[in-house]
Amino acid sequence: MTSPVTLAVDDGIAEITIDLPPVNAINQAIRTGLLECFRKAIADDSVQAIVLLAAGRTYMAGADINEFDTGVGEPAYYDVFRVIENSDKIVVTALHGTALGGGLETALACHYRCADANARMGLPELSLGIIPGAGGSQRLPRLIGAKAAVETVFGIVPIKAEKALELGLIDKIVDGDLRRGAISWTKELVQQGASPRRTGEMDVDVTGYDDDFLAEMRTLAGKRMRGQEAPERLLEAVAVATKLPLEEGLVEEKRIGDAAVASAESEALRHVFFAEREVTKVPGIGKSASRIEVETVGILGSGTMGTGIGIVFGNAGYTVRIIDPSRESLDKCKAAIEKTQASQVGRGRMDQATAADMLSRMSYVTSYDALADVDLAIEAVFEDMNLKKEIFAKLDEICKPGAILASNSSTLNIDDMAACTARPASVVGLHFFSPANIMKLLEIVRAGKTSKEVLATAVDIGKRIRKVAVVVGIGGTFGFVGNRMMVKGYIREADQMLLEGASVQEVDKAIYDFGLPMGPWTMNDMGGVDIMCSVLESTGARAANPEPFYNVTLALGEAGLLGQKTGQGFYRYEKGDRTPIYDPSIENIIAGEAERLNVGRKSLTADEIQQRCIFGLINEGARILEEGLVYRASDIDVIWIYGYGFPRFRGGPMFYADQIGLDKVYETVRGYHETLGNYWQPAPLLEQFAKEGRKFADWAPE
Ligand code: 3HC
Repeated sequence: MTSPVTLAVDDGIAEITIDLPPVNAINQAIRTGLLECFRKAIADDSVQAIVLLAAGRTYMAGADINEFDTGVGEPAYYDVFRVIENSDKIVVTALHGTALGGGLETALACHYRCADANARMGLPELSLGIIPGAGGSQRLPRLIGAKAAVETVFGIVPIKAEKALELGLIDKIVDGDLRRGAISWTKELVQQGASPRRTGEMDVDVTGYDDDFLAEMRTLAGKRMRGQEAPERLLEAVAVATKLPLEEGLVEEKRIGDAAVASAESEALRHVFFAEREVTKVPGIGKSASRIEVETVGILGSGTMGTGIGIVFGNAGYTVRIIDPSRESLDKCKAAIEKTQASQVGRGRMDQATAADMLSRMSYVTSYDALADVDLAIEAVFEDMNLKKEIFAKLDEICKPGAILASNSSTLNIDDMAACTARPASVVGLHFFSPANIMKLLEIVRAGKTSKEVLATAVDIGKRIRKVAVVVGIGGTFGFVGNRMMVKGYIREADQMLLEGASVQEVDKAIYDFGLPMGPWTMNDMGGVDIMCSVLESTGARAANPEPFYNVTLALGEAGLLGQKTGQGFYRYEKGDRTPIYDPSIENIIAGEAERLNVGRKSLTADEIQQRCIFGLINEGARILEEGLVYRASDIDVIWIYGYGFPRFRGGPMFYADQIGLDKVYETVRGYHETLGNYWQPAPLLEQFAKEGRKFADWAPE
């Protein structure tokens, strides 16, 4: 097998090049190649200096994450980097693209670093639940100081070359051709008699690295990486760097790093890394599949959803027409969009010209005729099937042939809407999550007759509008994937537990502590209790299920306690303030319902609350797999992470179940079925996989 690392010597300069597309992720072959090439170059008397380069679109973007599952084989990073750093000939490296993780750690082991102006660099290991474990936790503080090192790693987002130069992470920005620039700089260094400048021999600057700074960093980690252990592990490793010489520090880094790699948190975060990339691969839709050109988009409805969707398409460069028979509503929508753009400019997230360009492509009209020439029409009207059917019939009449007709419904049957048109192949679901301009998830709902061309176009649109787009379907089912799991599996159980004696606050706290951004009742109050009630009614879910079924939610809805919008729902709200205030009087309504339904009351532990909510999700997720509504179990994980804030460090509900063991999940669900009722019937796929010792990750559609 040819090595991905090559050595060429010319005019006293040894050029070592790594070439392993797409991102030069460092694996055993690269480490072996590096070791061999560096040893040869160091031993070659004709070589005066060594330049390390990477070919292709980027410098090494990190260690090959796949190796964490199998274990990192020989040679170890430490052994390779020791040879590089201890070279008696100067080693220069040139960075471009994204120099991340193990890639940047390779650069840290070199003596001099340059980069092209567009290069970015960082140590994003915390996002994978690990610490920089190839010397990064020990070398970065030596190079840029302990404070900047912690800030850089905690920041996760890669820094630009300019900032890196400021910090002393690189020595030079090269204009023009990077390779040529790096070689000529190396020759200059040789001429100047530059000697090896070993990062490992530097002292750590601890200016500003004090208790206050560490407390601030811990607060930051508590917000951005709540529930994760990796930030604390990083602080431990950096503290080591401030006290011990490099070689002793590396021993400690390995101890801390190995524990991080083996943690459940890291296993989950690595799963999410690959799940996010898998989700973009839609079977049957390759690059060659034909697409429909979409530039003009009509959005029906100027309420919260229509407004958010309008912002999304406007920012992605589309020409957008928002259509609503109510001029008053359109005016509000226009004002909201202008305010959002102004605020983006005010915060420095967008320049004035970009905002103005976006606003110039937006129009707000009352007449449906404006839809005649749009390439894509998205309805974002109230969640009412009769209304949606009417709208689809109208769209079919007005829109040009070939235009895509999309519904933003969150629960309703897309097939039924498609049936009201003479072009069901052009109908697709585009389920945005509220607020649409903030939430990253887009469920693309493939209805029974959606054509491949329309689906492929929808997937491309998802990319252009920068959403995490997950194709689900085939159509027709209640709530698609995310909302079906939420309504049937999760909130239903949370409602049941209120009847059984858990307080509103206890349920929300247990779910928050599990890692979601908020509990189900805070969420319901935000979305509107009436919305949930209307979903339960309009989809027929209420009529189809015997009581107790969402009795607390329905009771609140009937009492007009609709959440934030009425100042009282599951919580109470002060005027103009969205902070939920616990109001124990709500428990009287719940106790009344429990008495009427003859549900015995007791206290529930936080563990039980978490388990019943999450296992409810998992059981419904298993049914979704069984019905083939997604391409892989990990698609469900991505939906729950991006649409509902399921904690990344738990990998998503299906991965979490795999991690616990499906046999254990199945036994628990079976127990609930016996004690709590028929609705806990274990999904047949869960039972089958548990008995066969398989994981959801093994599941593939037939
Ligand atoms: N290991 C293995 N595969 C990787 C990888 C890595 N570090 N980085 C990217 N890939 C793969 C992706 O899975 C994808 O594979 P696919 O085509 O089969 O789906 C392919 O490379 C291209 O990646 P993207 O689709 O993400 O390409 P983009 O151009 O959108 O992004 C990137 C490029 C910014 C480099 C992005 O891939 C990225 O952020 N990669 C991970 C960076 C990272 O986390 N590095 C640290 C790794 S941990 C480490 O180094 C530990 C060390 O301390 C020992």
